[in-house]
Amino acid sequence: MPGLLLGDEAPNFEADTTQGRIRFHDFLGDSWGILFSHPRDFTPVCTTELGRAAKLAAEFSKRNVKMIALSIDSVQDHLSWCKDINAYNGEQPAEKLPFPIIADKDRELAVQLGMLDPDERDKDGMPLTARVVFIFGPDKKLKLSILYPATTGRNFDEILRVVDSLQLTAYKKVATPVDWKPGDSVMVVPTLPDEEAKKLFPKGVFTKDLPSGKKYLRYTPQPE
Ligand code: BEZ
Repeated sequence: MPGLLLGDEAPNFEADTTQGRIRFHDFLGDSWGILFSHPRDFTPVCTTELGRAAKLAAEFSKRNVKMIALSIDSVQDHLSWCKDINAYNGEQPAEKLPFPIIADKDRELAVQLGMLDPDERDKDGMPLTARVVFIFGPDKKLKLSILYPATTGRNFDEILRVVDSLQLTAYKKVATPVDWKPGDSVMVVPTLPDEEAKKLFPKGVFTKDLPSGKKYLRYTPQPE
C-alpha cells in the first residue's frame, strides 16, 4: 500500500523543483525536514498556506528544519505561482520562495506517498493532492504525519509547535501534554523509572495525586 508510516525511512526520490533537481536524502542532509503537499498551483487556500510558510521560514531554519513543498504542476507553473504568493505576502512578485516546491505533474510522488484526496478532483476527474505534512528526523525516519483534506488549510503555528515537541522528545527525552506551548512544563515519559527521572531532570519532577494512587502524571519544567 502506498504511503508512509511513523518510523519509515523517507524514500530517496529524485525530483525537479523550483530550485533545481534534487535527491531527497541529499536535500535533507543531516537536518530535520518537513515535506508538505498542496492540491494544485494557483488555488486560494494553498496560496495562503505557502505565504505563511514563507513568512515562517526563519523559524523552521532556527530549528534546523529544511522545508520543501509539493504540488502536482510543473516547475514553470510553480515559478509563476511563486510571484502571486510573494505578492499575497505584500512583497515583490519574485519567482523565489525560501524553500523549493517539487513539481509532481504526473502525481507519481503523490501516489507513492499516499497523498491523494479522493473527494477533490480536477476538471478531468483526477484526484488532487491532500494537505499532507511529513516531518522527518535527522535519521530520515518519519516522526510525524498530518493529513488534511484539500479544503482545510493547515495551521503553521501548530506545525512549529509539533517540531518543538518532537525535538524535545529527541534531545531531552520528554513528552508534551495537551495544548502544550513552549515554556510550559513537560511530562516525564512513562517508561522512565523515578530514580532516573530525578537524575535526568535536576529542576525537579512533580507528580499530581490521582484517585488511583498511581503516580504517572509526572511533570518537569521544560529542559533548556
Ligand atoms: C485551495 O487551495 O483553495 C483548494 C484546492 C483544492 C480544493 C479546494 C481548495
